[in-house]
Amino acid sequence: MNTLKDEQLQELVERAVQAKGFSYSPYSGFQVGAALLCEDGSVYTGCNIENAAFGPTNCAERTAFFKAVSEGKTEFSAIAIAGGRTGEAITDYTYPCGVCRQVMAEFCKSDFRILVAKHKEDYKIYTLEELVPHRFGPDDVL
Ligand code: THU
Repeated sequence: MNTLKDEQLQELVERAVQAKGFSYSPYSGFQVGAALLCEDGSVYTGCNIENAAFGPTNCAERTAFFKAVSEGKTEFSAIAIAGGRTGEAITDYTYPCGVCRQVMAEFCKSDFRILVAKHKEDYKIYTLEELVPHRFGPDDVL
């Protein structure tokens, strides 16, 4: 298990909440932010980016992953996710959708941590193994 300090996780949650502020979500009115911690300690943030054609919409988690991978990062420790309706306080935990879970399964090991957060003092932590058991991944193909 990789060890992560509480302060590090709280900082990651704060970065996710900040990133939520950049959400482009005029169609759903649901803003999501994510902050992805790389094994080298760097953090990539992302928000959901919607589209009038709906299909091209990208979730916050995938925005963060694709930013990181496009800059050469492929080793990850944790991701924090925060979501809620535009203009309202965060009242619920936002869990990653199936497509984002599959992207996590491509790059992350079983002990990768997924934090679903309301704020830095209110979050739950899961492992990838818990949220995507019996996953299909690179080992099945390579
Ligand atoms: N969304 C995310 O960005 N991440 C999630 O984990 C769940 C859903 C976005 C997609 C869409 O822009 C909006 O939330 C409503 O589904």
